[in-house]
Amino acid sequence: MPSQKPIKVALLGCGTVGTEVVRLLVDQADDLTARVGAPVELAGIAVRKPNKHREVPADLLTTDAAALVASDVDVVVEVIGGIEPARTLLLDALRAGKSVVTANKALLAEHSGELSAAADASGADLYFEASVAGAIPLLRPLRESLAGDRITRVMGIVNGTTNFILSGMDSTGAGYAEALEEATRLGYAEADPTADVDGFDAASKAAILASLAFHSRVTAADVHREGIASVSAADIAAARALGRTVKLLAICERVTEGDQESVSVRVHPAMIPRSHPLAGVSGAFNAVFVEADAAGEMMFYGQGAGGAPTASAVLGDLVAVARNLVQGGRGPRESAYAALPVRPMGQTPTRYHISLDVADRAGVLSQVAAVFAEHDVSIAAVRQEGRVDDASLVVVTHAATDAALRSTVDKIGGLPVVREVVSVMRVEGEET
Ligand code: NDP
Ligand code: HSE
Repeated sequence: MPSQKPIKVALLGCGTVGTEVVRLLVDQADDLTARVGAPVELAGIAVRKPNKHREVPADLLTTDAAALVASDVDVVVEVIGGIEPARTLLLDALRAGKSVVTANKALLAEHSGELSAAADASGADLYFEASVAGAIPLLRPLRESLAGDRITRVMGIVNGTTNFILSGMDSTGAGYAEALEEATRLGYAEADPTADVDGFDAASKAAILASLAFHSRVTAADVHREGIASVSAADIAAARALGRTVKLLAICERVTEGDQESVSVRVHPAMIPRSHPLAGVSGAFNAVFVEADAAGEMMFYGQGAGGAPTASAVLGDLVAVARNLVQGGRGPRESAYAALPVRPMGQTPTRYHISLDVADRAGVLSQVAAVFAEHDVSIAAVRQEGRVDDASLVVVTHAATDAALRSTVDKIGGLPVVREVVSVMRVEGEET
């Protein structure tokens, strides 16, 4: 047994994740001591309503999170969520030289610069593996294992709630409202699902991923965000007809034009081929596909949420910062030296799948094709199926700027020969 003095830990929050952090700390105390080289001791737990928390020792509970942070603890673990008071508490901890472990994606996506500066000033550690994709080891590979490579793309399913809804729509043919109701009934969607279904949660995660992958500071405000509320049963059916499925993707790409480099960071629903590795990720699971120059393609897959999976990532970080304290030294600092600009969505090349109901008569296809040509959007594939008195026309484009594609679709929607624009969706995961 090591004779080192204990590493004292303040836990801020004891909800879904915090409860499991306490359980793992207690259940694995001996193993953690051996792995760290010193006992890891829970010094206090800050909550709002102590009476609610009968599962943890009452003498550890406090409602005064600031006092707990200011006490003689070595590490602060934050699983409260939201911006305040988490931001102030963590800045106080870091300024006092206390290492921080947090699962708070919303905070990091807005304030990582400020938090990293405070950590650098005092020499403390700032770890946040649990903030993206729950249990899946993803940030450490980006931050450390791939630090010698050049990452070109990170594309993933980082929100389990929306993946559960879209998987349900795909397998049952249900509409969005019905699938959301089912997800709520089963506890996959919260009573207020806005953060998930409107893409805010995924956008925060995309900002964190892009910052690490491209050594640049990207915030949630830089991320182009579209949710899944407008995905219809017709979109899903159109995807299925062409061997594709619809996923809410977080996409972080390095874009090179001449000697200018920038990053595109976006969250939106997209059709991907059913043969793509991300297409098989169903239910509430997360998966992230990473491409790097030397390493090639990699995929990280697992449970992206839930108390125990997320606590696993928190404990991994806690062991890392505790080891640093015992052995001396520090984990990786923020790496934002590249400072790549974020490319506006309008200038970002994407591909579209457009499904139209059109009149079935001579010259219709040429009128539609003329609008694409007028906007300099190249058509990759066309499929037409005649019906009794009209036809279904599906056009898949090559990559073109988002602005050009949007103008094309607007103009096509106004053609007298087009009865309805049934579905418009971006296509990802295929050659451009
Ligand atoms: P919960 O809402 O379940 O728990 C939040 C906890 O914080 C509660 O114990 C609450 O106290 C406490 N709390 C809230 N405000 C204060 C305050 N002002 N002072 C002290 N304590 C406070 O959240 P989760 O456990 O689900 O999430 C925690 C963090 O982990 C969030 O940042 C979230 O984004 C992240 N995360 C969560 C995942 C998940 O699956 N749940 C997955 C990945 C990341 P009380 O219990 O008394 O109300
Ligand atoms: N609400 C998130 C999800 C879990 O559905 O994936 C926490 O990030």
